[in-house]
Amino acid sequence: MKSECQLDDIFQVMQKKLSHEGLLLASSDTEDRMNVMTIGWGLVGRLWREPVYMVAVRPSRYTFNFIEATGEFSVNVPAEGMEDTVTYCGQASGRDHDKFRERGLTVVSGMHVKSPLIQECIAHIECKVIGTSTVRPERISSSVQNSCYSAGDYHTLYYGRILTILKDV
Ligand SMILES: Cc1cc2nc3c(=O)[nH]c(=O)nc-3n(C[C@H](O)[C@H](O)[C@H](O)COP(=O)(O)O)c2cc1C
Repeated sequence: MKSECQLDDIFQVMQKKLSHEGLLLASSDTEDRMNVMTIGWGLVGRLWREPVYMVAVRPSRYTFNFIEATGEFSVNVPAEGMEDTVTYCGQASGRDHDKFRERGLTVVSGMHVKSPLIQECIAHIECKVIGTSTVRPERISSSVQNSCYSAGDYHTLYYGRILTILKDV
């Protein structure tokens, strides 16, 4: 069973997974198609007087089109044992794969967003985009340019207002 909680209740486990195997970013498009991809970069905090989760998505990702279309996403914290699924969702694209079906992921409806939540995960953050920005080559250091953007594909940063946080109880 899942119930609403505070950011503090999931912060440590979420940050640990973000910097190890990654978290799962789920989204849908205007025709209710769903997709999930792995993220290793994200920020949580306060911005514009709101609680915000910021994700960084390259335009080449199928997910990019979904978030552009709906302005919503969910961040899902994988359970122990989901490492292979997280790796897969970070390699396969929703353009060619139904990652939910292929990895046996169960969709749960969000409380406030149409983006799916992933039942098998232990915590979920529902977000509505309230701002975006795009990484600009002239505004990053040469070391970041060299290590992260040799192929261009500059991330769009989506600032998602946190609407609900859920965790397994
Ligand atoms: C550990 C890990 C972390 C990743 N983090 C990000 C990220 O923060 N932003 C991003 O755009 N891609 C990231 N990726 C790459 C995407 O998950 C990958 O390209 C995925 O296949 C995109 O799926 P999609 O095309 O269905 O959206 C990461 C991949 C891995 C394995």
